[in-house]
Amino acid sequence: MGTYVVTGSASGIGAAVRERLLSAEHEVVGIDLRDADIEADLSADDGRSAAVAAVRERTESLDGAVLCAGLGPTAPTRLIVSVNHFGTVAVLDGLRDLLAGGADPAVVVIGSHAPMVTPLVDHTLADTMLAGEEDATHAAAEELPGFAVYALSKEAVIRAVRQRVPDWGADGIRLNVVAPGPVETPLLEETRKDELLGPASDALPMPLGRIGAPDDIASVVEFLLGSGASYMHGAVVVVDGGTDCGARPNLF
Ligand SMILES: NC(=O)c1ccc[n+]([C@@H]2O[C@H](COP(=O)([O-])OP(=O)(O)OC[C@H]3O[C@@H](n4cnc5c(N)ncnc54)[C@H](O)[C@@H]3O)[C@@H](O)[C@H]2O)c1
Repeated sequence: MGTYVVTGSASGIGAAVRERLLSAEHEVVGIDLRDADIEADLSADDGRSAAVAAVRERTESLDGAVLCAGLGPTAPTRLIVSVNHFGTVAVLDGLRDLLAGGADPAVVVIGSHAPMVTPLVDHTLADTMLAGEEDATHAAAEELPGFAVYALSKEAVIRAVRQRVPDWGADGIRLNVVAPGPVETPLLEETRKDELLGPASDALPMPLGRIGAPDDIASVVEFLLGSGASYMHGAVVVVDGGTDCGARPNLF
């Protein structure tokens, strides 16, 4: 069976992905701040490099990676950009050669439907993230509310994935994004406690009438990693119980 890296493997969506892959008898190398095979802080350069180096010590090739580690809109804004965008991109790029050596390798990055459902007029912060200017994004992010920084961090990481699609496709590495809506995890619990974001999150239209479970996302991730998705490359798959359609029925 295959060997997969899962970041954010200790909780929520990452833990559900890890469980699914283990149930399918794959080998999983989990990366997280704690309770993981590799304990590393992806908010900082040294933690990112240490995580990638530790993966290299364990394996010479990877069949896939699922990049779930992330922080929600109530976290400090500098950490939101550093984990959600820079940490994800650093691990993605750091694993590229290992993935190129895998069997039908595929990557799934966990984005969010936030860039779609959040009214954003100024995308400069996402542009700055994509320019690789981490220090500049910290200063700029402090001027914005957490929900906007969160949505822009997810916009930036989705754009970063899409920008890599032509080049990585030539190496046979498929890249896709899953963009979840509300999912019952500690991240959503924290968001609910916020006096502004809690009610805003509860007010989102829920056409299926329920909040997602982590395994609702993990099952789609598993599909995207597998041969049934062999022609999917560069897709942003929204898995949100219809919330985005409820909020923007005439846009896609
Ligand atoms: N839960 C939701 O409603 C929801 C909706 C859309 C997108 N997402 C995204 O799904 C992903 C997973 O979130 P979740 O809801 O499972 O949350 P979670 O809090 O349950 O899990 C996130 C994991 O990321 C890890 N992490 C955070 N900072 C880290 C760091 N500096 N270094 C290493 N690991 C770190 C945490 O320790 C945790 O285990 C995130 O990228 C999140 O933005 C979640």
